[in-house]
Amino acid sequence: MTKSYLAHRVATLKPSGIRKFFDIVATMKDVISLGIGEPDFDTPDPILKAGIESLKRGETHYTSNAGILELRQELSQHIQRMYGVSYDPVSEMLITVGVSEALYLALTAILEPGEEVLIPTPCFVAYQSEVILAGGVPVEIPSRMEDNFQPNLEALASAVTSRTKAILIGYPNNPTGAVASRETLLEVLRIAERHDLVVISDEIYDRLVYGIPHVCFAALPGARERTITLGGFSKDYAMTGWRIGYAAAPAETLKGLLRIHQYTIMSAPTTAQAAALVALRSGEPYVQEMLAEYNRRRQLIVGGLNHLGLPTFEPRGAFYAFPKISVTGMDDETFSQKLLEEERVAVVPGTAFGAGGEGFVRCSYATAYEKIEEALHRMERFMQRHG
Ligand SMILES: Cc1ncc(COP(=O)(O)O)c(C=O)c1O
Repeated sequence: MTKSYLAHRVATLKPSGIRKFFDIVATMKDVISLGIGEPDFDTPDPILKAGIESLKRGETHYTSNAGILELRQELSQHIQRMYGVSYDPVSEMLITVGVSEALYLALTAILEPGEEVLIPTPCFVAYQSEVILAGGVPVEIPSRMEDNFQPNLEALASAVTSRTKAILIGYPNNPTGAVASRETLLEVLRIAERHDLVVISDEIYDRLVYGIPHVCFAALPGARERTITLGGFSKDYAMTGWRIGYAAAPAETLKGLLRIHQYTIMSAPTTAQAAALVALRSGEPYVQEMLAEYNRRRQLIVGGLNHLGLPTFEPRGAFYAFPKISVTGMDDETFSQKLLEEERVAVVPGTAFGAGGEGFVRCSYATAYEKIEEALHRMERFMQRHG
């Protein structure tokens, strides 16, 4: 056996449940994928052109470490306008390589070795691993479908120990589509205040909500000082490949994130920053157009899955449906594997998203309407055999 030079925390890191599954999908033909967590839309034209124009102007150099000031200013005004929270673009905002980097910076900046981070699950697959990479200990707090996948407040409060440093939340939620209510978030804030915890709020799907407002955690009375807000362009503006996101936090905290970013990244991609600026200035009609189409698909898939006898909670944000599949008598891994093998439909097993995901699968509706219709037909055949 070859010797491993890897650090223990890296060697023991679990591979993402999603990747493992999609390596299999990549080898198969005629698969309808409801597994992808990214918009099927291409980046809207004006945004794309802004990137190209920036390159043509010769903007092929580093930017300031924190990102182009004009972009930070525009973003600051955008957040102020949307949610009433004000962040100083000079000292409280940082442009990052997606929310992925922002998350890594936030955790690395605040955690001492062994400190715990409470995470309502199911959640985005990277949360637990990023906490471990930053030297911390993830503590999962499973949410329940019966509670509309809101964070379980009692479990959250009782999981706090002397080592707890932060609560990491992500609403609208990947994979459930749940949007935490203002009342629930106020209770999360109470718990954070009582124990002096940091709240890291991943709001990457903030614009993708259906008929209800997005609540920005930092906008809650008294929340701003203990909150690190993470946001991005990947989902709202269909810009996953541009790799652009941001972190916003009080200056004293942001300073720490910026320092790590300076040494590890230098600056977010210049072209993508130019494109993001135009996304904020001219992207709104496109966001609305994509949102309307997601909403049409959401109704199709949620209605369809419930009709097949797979109880599905109505998602109020993001672009995922999270049907309960335990009625089939299969666990979520077996269900996903059989559905793929027998009907060539790819979904993601709920356990990939942590505790609370067991017995569910994630179906993304960032897929064309007609493909969702065909996937539902195939699933109907599957359910006739296994339902
Ligand atoms: C909840 C959540 N946070 C963060 C990310 C990472 O996004 P980015 O492309 O900005 O790195 C994703 C991507 O799937 C996500 O679902």
